[in-house]
Amino acid sequence: MSDYLVNLGRNGAARNVLGRIGVPLPQELRRAEGPYEETPLTDRTFVAHGAGLGLDLGAALTALGATAGPDGPDVIVLDASDAEGVDGLRTLYETLHPRIRTLARNGRIVVLGRPEKDAISVGHAVAQAALDGFVRSVAKELGRKGSTANLVRVAPGAEAHVLGALRFLLTDRSAYVSGQPLTLRGDLGAAPVFAPQPLHGKVALVTGAARGIGAATTRRLAAEGAKVLLLDREDASEALDAVATEVGGTVLYCDITAADAPERIARTLAEMGGADVVVHNAGITRDRTLGRMSDAEWDLVMQVNLGAILRVHGAMAAGSLNDGARIVLLSSTVGIAGNPGQTNYAATKAAMVGLSRRLAGDLAPRGIGVYAVAPGFIETRMTETIPFATREGARRLNSLSQGGLPQDVAEGITFLSTSLASGLSGGVLRVCGGSLIGA
Ligand code: NAI
Repeated sequence: MSDYLVNLGRNGAARNVLGRIGVPLPQELRRAEGPYEETPLTDRTFVAHGAGLGLDLGAALTALGATAGPDGPDVIVLDASDAEGVDGLRTLYETLHPRIRTLARNGRIVVLGRPEKDAISVGHAVAQAALDGFVRSVAKELGRKGSTANLVRVAPGAEAHVLGALRFLLTDRSAYVSGQPLTLRGDLGAAPVFAPQPLHGKVALVTGAARGIGAATTRRLAAEGAKVLLLDREDASEALDAVATEVGGTVLYCDITAADAPERIARTLAEMGGADVVVHNAGITRDRTLGRMSDAEWDLVMQVNLGAILRVHGAMAAGSLNDGARIVLLSSTVGIAGNPGQTNYAATKAAMVGLSRRLAGDLAPRGIGVYAVAPGFIETRMTETIPFATREGARRLNSLSQGGLPQDVAEGITFLSTSLASGLSGGVLRVCGGSLIGA
């Protein structure tokens, strides 16, 4: 489904006329196509400021293809990790205040900080905490230009992982990620150097791969070199076959709630050499307010979105999940913020955030990273069924004033599936355009 206001905004005259009468149209987002490039910031200019983390940001951004250019930059990276107290925050203001209005459309701001718990003084702790509100507000101010701002908190020892995160957050791969804090952990081992096709030779399972976010994710993982096992229900076989043919993947027709599903999935993966990437994407809604909800509606959502994932994971963990694997769990901003009529769905999606935290701890000794992805409003068949007025509200209530595309979530999942995200485990990435609802 496409967004009619974004389409209208492509017409410069319509954009100008409506802008003059106070109806700004959403900025069309620039999105990346094809596999990861070595230098994704070619033709972009950057400003880098601060050195508290001891990183040579200028060299890092140059290596991504960008050139230093203080006027109208595409990218601003601000290392505020040593900011302390009011004076430290004043530096933040002084650095961005003269530049923010010159940031190019579809621009990117990333602020680097330290986790509050690693602060060395009260002043340091409060300034680092302040970055959160600051970056979220900047993100909300930038949205109408299609630009984003995100915060990366870097634990001591995680400094080398920053480059992987920047490859995502500073490029067109993160078009629908804004106002988000990510924490890079210092206890997850060395940061690998980026190489093209980071999933080359890896086996990836994607559930619900026939359409929507699952199909888009399958395409992206395959483009990065993965051998994908595409799973969906028998009644989606035609669509599943089409995606599988396109990417040269293997299909498994299977309802994940079936009694024999965990064993069949584990066996197939074992035959393929074990899973290096697992994306638990299949999910459903059965919306009704709690008092009116039927037992069947409650139970089905619980079984598909939670029970099946626990059982499938249990079967896989026993022998067909490789050490060093990455697991991505599909949550939802509804699981974070709650939503009337979605108690069943929101409960299962909040459970995914908890499962990511829990499994990250349990599987760390095997070098397995786990992360949840919480999409906001994404244009898929799931959201097409929402009544028009509600749908239009949900679509616009974010900093970018538009819905995301399956491709945007697929980019987030792909980032988390690769070594670019090797400093991340046990958290949740929202792909929601900086939704105004929820944390
Ligand atoms: P979709 O409805 O377009 O696709 C879901 C796929 O899962 C379908 O191909 C379906 O056949 C498959 N599936 C459903 N039940 C299954 C079962 N029992 N066994 C095997 N396959 C099954 O959904 P969409 O929008 O692509 O969502 C994907 C995930 O992202 C879901 O977990 C959803 O909750 C989550 N999400 C989606 C959002 C959106 O705005 N579209 C927002 C937040 C989260």
